[in-house]
Amino acid sequence: MKREQFSSSLGFILAAAGSAVGIGNLVAFPVMASKNGGAAFLIMYAIFVFFICLPVMLAEMSLGRHTRQNPLGAYTEIGQNRAWRTVGWLSVLTPFMIGVFYLVITVWIAGYLGKAILGQLDQLADPEGFGTFINSNELFVYMALVVGLTFLILQGGVKKGIEKATTILMPTLFIMLIALVIYVLTLENAMLGVKFFLIPDFTKLTGEVLNGALAQAFFSLSLAMGILITYGSYIQKHDNIVSAGKTVAGLSLLVACCSGLLILPAVFSFNPDIEMSELSTSSIGMIFMFLPKIFLALQADIGYFGASFIAAFFFLLVFFAAMTSLVSIIEVPVASVMDGKGVSRRKALFILGSVMVVLAIVCALSFGRIDFLSQLLHYGGVDKSFFDVIYDMFYETILPLNGFLLCLFVIYRWKKHNLDAEICDGNSTFSGSLLQKYVNLSLGTFIPGILAIIFINTVSTIYFGKNLLF
Ligand code: PHE
Repeated sequence: MKREQFSSSLGFILAAAGSAVGIGNLVAFPVMASKNGGAAFLIMYAIFVFFICLPVMLAEMSLGRHTRQNPLGAYTEIGQNRAWRTVGWLSVLTPFMIGVFYLVITVWIAGYLGKAILGQLDQLADPEGFGTFINSNELFVYMALVVGLTFLILQGGVKKGIEKATTILMPTLFIMLIALVIYVLTLENAMLGVKFFLIPDFTKLTGEVLNGALAQAFFSLSLAMGILITYGSYIQKHDNIVSAGKTVAGLSLLVACCSGLLILPAVFSFNPDIEMSELSTSSIGMIFMFLPKIFLALQADIGYFGASFIAAFFFLLVFFAAMTSLVSIIEVPVASVMDGKGVSRRKALFILGSVMVVLAIVCALSFGRIDFLSQLLHYGGVDKSFFDVIYDMFYETILPLNGFLLCLFVIYRWKKHNLDAEICDGNSTFSGSLLQKYVNLSLGTFIPGILAIIFINTVSTIYFGKNLLF
């Protein structure tokens, strides 16, 4: 069977940007930046994106396009031994499990969107609102909707599913984001938020903050999850990988910055005297508990209907961003099963989808509904729920490990000259360029070095309660 392909370079760029732009850019980044040095954080983040993440991104895309395989297939074909095949398994299992927790969060967002539309903004703004919602039976209705929609998009395949959905959703997302930024900037005290977001404070850039920034950049660009290998396997040979990679990284950064100009002014117009320490560090706290309060407060100016409209508009934006990321992450195991077992897309989707839904339901029951699941394990001095365990294991721990292994694989197993040759296809100026030297050098030395350090420190911090670095 001929491998499916994106119809154009733009189709690929939008799909990859759809994967990259997610809850991380829209919520986690603005909060992190404003708490940790504003523009100083932004500069460091941009440096990480282009100097550390971009080479990894190019490596993943080239590996995919060269092998025309999912990550398991790619590692197996080039690795030629059992050890690399195991790494291949890891890079399919990781997106599968991250997909489970991302599905749960996407369902929450769908729920907030639905409730805002149904005029229940007051419930969302209630301090108990979030806890009540995530433990309600209503949740499963939203889960069915999200799963159904994801299935529909993925069933359409690469061109008529993923590409079509992202070419509609991404431009709409950009327009909605700009519209919301303009609206928020007209609110009273909005400029205080802009200042807060942009005034640099270099003293805040501690080692810990930098570690967090790098992890955030890595996750946000969908690296080490096999996504760009899989999407890369659908790019046409003559497409320019370097410019596609730069565009995706740039778009993701741009959305993150615009989102800072949305969230911070909104926070300050709600309360101009707010202390940054009052803001929750987790994006979950911000999006599901704090923002609804801000939206509800708008009713003084624009009435309950207006406030609900703005809330629904915002959650729709986040929902689009989350859906395009969710689709990308589920496509990885789907492609692996299709390639590996030679089954149809529909069958692969049914098999994987069912397991994923079961795990997502188990996650949903682990927020207090079932004690055993809510306190599944105890490590690092804290009780961990099923959801926490998946998050810690796959997102926090295995992600940097996968990144580390990918760098070693590309440079020392596949070899530099093969990587170069693949990137040169569609971009003849790459050969002999400074970028080529940088990509080769960095991927073979300090990038895996940094990822190895992050991995070791994460293991020690999370599971043994001992932070080795900070
Ligand atoms: N880029 C996403 C974000 O910022 C993270 C992600 C990527 C999640 C791919 C799932 C799949 O939220």
